Amino acid sequence: MVHPQEGHRNPRIVVLGSANMDLMAIASRFPEPGETILGKGFQATPGGKGANQAVAAARLGARTMFIGRVGKDAFGDALVHELQTNGVDIKDLAREDGVPTGIAHIQVDEAGQNKIIIAPGANAGCGALELDRLLRVLPRTDALLLQMELPAVVSLEAAREAKEFGCSVILDPAPASPLPDEEYPLLDVILPNETEATILTGVTVTGPATAREAALRIQGRGVSIVVVKLGDQGAYYLGPTDEGHLPAMQVEVVDSVGAGDAFSAAFAVASAEGASLVEAVLWGNAAGALAVTQRGAQRAMPHRRDLLNLLKSTPESGQ
Ligand code: RIB
Repeated sequence: MVHPQEGHRNPRIVVLGSANMDLMAIASRFPEPGETILGKGFQATPGGKGANQAVAAARLGARTMFIGRVGKDAFGDALVHELQTNGVDIKDLAREDGVPTGIAHIQVDEAGQNKIIIAPGANAGCGALELDRLLRVLPRTDALLLQMELPAVVSLEAAREAKEFGCSVILDPAPASPLPDEEYPLLDVILPNETEATILTGVTVTGPATAREAALRIQGRGVSIVVVKLGDQGAYYLGPTDEGHLPAMQVEVVDSVGAGDAFSAAFAVASAEGASLVEAVLWGNAAGALAVTQRGAQRAMPHRRDLLNLLKSTPESGQ
């Protein structure tokens, strides 16, 4: 099996997306509506699906640029610092006066499951400025990685711009909302989880068989590669010439926040390095597995050496 580490190193990846401060309360269980419970701890840590994916891509070896927006406040300062520390190019990250940095209000239970409410703040202001900045860097970009935490119109226009430059467009459709059929052909790859695949297709996705059904529907709308992230059931992938299911790697789950982001970034890096579809999905599975073993989102994003070590120690990965 040709491994990405032997292929094209240091691809250029641009992430256009959100940056949030994650305000995370940990408890033995989720409260019922109207109920107050005592929690076990609290953390304020860097997050946002876009920024998480940018940090993961950089840690995994891509030259990564993040385009987005934060406020001129303490949370914004902390997010800028974290991105910089991780080697993400943030010269096109805007700071907006008078608008708060986005936050995510997160509850985590003892099984590591999470519930998230986002107050988008500065993320919601992304628009023409970010699209202009993207246009300038697209000629030297291998892959554009998008999510749905910015206004949908911005992400879709970005996909349109990237398509014109022949840049690979990868969408992590989170949080999910239905996409107009005519937008699907703008995407080369889409990486929904079970819930998102269900919302996008109307097929109730609960495992590999239903993931395949949903993936076929999405592919029929004009996306050549569909990977459905199935959490502890692994991932189902459907490409132009091959398809299959890869089980999840067995690890101890501490918290699942950011696991999908780690998967998407690892898939993007491996593909941009020339990996095959199944290899890129393996990378995604390994990155997701590493992310759930640590608390927090951005700080739990995996490093390349850890991912390669996990692949080496996992017999079914074929490394
Ligand atoms: O995917 C996890 C992320 O979703 C968190 O970091 C939170 O900020 C939300 O964007």
